[in-house]
Order: sequence, then C-alpha cells, then structure tokens
Amino acid sequence: MASSTLKARLENKVAIVTGGAQGIGESMARTLAKHGAKVVIADLKDDLGESLCQELGPEFVSFVHCDVTIETDVENAINTTITRHGKLDIMVNNAGIIDESKLSILENDKADFERVVNVNLTGVFLGTKHAARVMIPNCRGSIITTASVCSVMGGIASHAYTSSKHGVVGLTKNAAAELGKYQIRVNCVSPYVIPTSLALKFFKMDENSTVFSNLKGKTLGPQDIANAVLFLASDESEYISGHNLVVDGGYTVLNPAFGLFDWKP
Ligand SMILES: NC(=O)c1ccc[n+]([C@@H]2O[C@H](COP(=O)([O-])OP(=O)(O)OC[C@H]3O[C@@H](n4cnc5c(N)ncnc54)[C@H](O)[C@@H]3O)[C@@H](O)[C@H]2O)c1
Repeated sequence: MASSTLKARLENKVAIVTGGAQGIGESMARTLAKHGAKVVIADLKDDLGESLCQELGPEFVSFVHCDVTIETDVENAINTTITRHGKLDIMVNNAGIIDESKLSILENDKADFERVVNVNLTGVFLGTKHAARVMIPNCRGSIITTASVCSVMGGIASHAYTSSKHGVVGLTKNAAAELGKYQIRVNCVSPYVIPTSLALKFFKMDENSTVFSNLKGKTLGPQDIANAVLFLASDESEYISGHNLVVDGGYTVLNPAFGLFDWKP
C-alpha cells in the first residue's frame, strides 16, 4: 500500500481509527495506510467500512464492528487488532456525533445531551483506556482524539457537543500526564468546519456551501486533518504530548469584534 516513492512514515505500525468508515475518519484510514500502517477501522457502519477495506486492500485495512459507547465492543476492537497484527501503535478516537441544533438551552433534552457525551467523551475514555491497556506493556504508543474548534470556543455548536469536545481535551491532558512514564503520547486534533454528514446536518449546509476561512482562498478538507493525525501518529512528533492541535487556518485566534485587519465575514 505504501507508495515506493514515499518514505513510509508509519512503516511497521498498527493503527485503529474509530469512525473510520466515512468522513474525516475515512481520510485518516486512507492516509495512515498510504504511509505504511496496518489500519483497523472500528465503526458501526459495517457495509461502508467493509467496502473501504475491499477498495484499499484487506491485507492493509480491515474492519471490526464497534460501538464506542459499549466497553466490550471497544475491548474486542483492540483485542482483534492484537490478534490480527500483534500490537497497537496508534489509536485514533475519531468517532463522533452531534445533536440537533436547538438554539435555546431550555429546548435541550437531558437524553440528547447524554447521548452526545456518551459517544464523544465516554467513547474516547474507553478507547484511550483499552489502547493504554495494550500499549503500556510495550512502553510505546500514540493516542489521538478528534476534538473540534468547539474544544476551545463557545458559540459554534450545541451545548452537548461543545461540552463533550472540551471534555476530551481534559481527558487528553490527564491521560498524557499519566501515560508519559510509559512513553505513550496522547494528543488531540481539532478541526474547523468540514462538510461531512455530521456538519451538513447540524449547519443545514450542502456540499457546495462556503464557510468563512481566515486563510483566503483555502477551504479546509478531511485530508488536512488526516495530515495532522499522520504527524501526531509518526515518530516525527515524538516529544509532543498533551497537545490540542487546532487545524483551523487561524479561525480560533481571530477576534472579529475590533476588525483591526479589515476582517469581513
Ligand atoms: N465535520 C466537521 O466539521 C467536524 C469539525 C470538528 C470536529 N469533527 C469531529 O470529527 C469526527 C468525525 O466526524 P465527521 O465529520 O467525519 O462525521 P461523519 O458523520 O461523517 O463520520 C462519523 C463516523 O463515526 C461513526 N460513529 C458514530 N457513532 C459511533 C459509535 N457510537 N461507535 C462507532 N462509530 C461511530 C459513524 O458511523 C461515522 O462513520 C467527530 O469526532 C466530529 O465531532 C468534525
């Protein structure tokens, strides 16, 4: 799978990507495999996941059914990876959902809030826990979680989503603090808006809708996030841990209130 002209940045590495059957996770799975890793996609969507494996070559990319909110599923995904490939080097906690856009907190149901937190935060806790279980004896590993610009800002998405994404940054910092003694690195990547099914639904956009970009003429795509994950997964980032790598073209550092640099929405 790794192109002979590329130096395989992930040669001999084994990765799991949760939520890898479509969207940003699919791009991550393709990119990690292209750079030499054996990839296991762990997702609810069996048909999509299996057909991606067929396309990329089942010897390089394989599928395991997994609901990240069910501990035995997560445990099974990790154990299946060990059975198939003998180890786990890279765990990407990418699966995520969003609830409906309800603009008043008074309309937000506890059940919806808990459903989002269950996938986006508890699911990441389970992925981190079971990845650590098999990484600790080897004293190596890179755990990466897809957070969001909603991990550092309010006012973009729902209360549940924003809370869950702030939560995974806290979990990442704590896990990085604990697992450093085993040479396991724990980081986040935080995308800005990308028109996947998740974003199209929440923002009521279509694939041709344009979103404000602070980088003139550039549009963020799944490959930009996959490239950030590739860096955090590879040994090039071997001293980076506890970090939240925001991939937003500078959006979250810009305060439009003063308009100093002639910022126009
Ligand atoms: N699209 C964006 O604008 C954007 C921005 C910031 C962060 N993110 C984050 O990126 C990640 C990927 O989202 P996306 O935009 O590719 O969405 P998507 O809906 O296209 O893909 C999400 C994937 O996660 C899987 N999934 C959902 N619940 C699951 C569960 N319980 N167990 C296992 N798999 C599950 C889905 O089946 C799907 O394959 C999410 O964590 C999301 O919060 C997305």
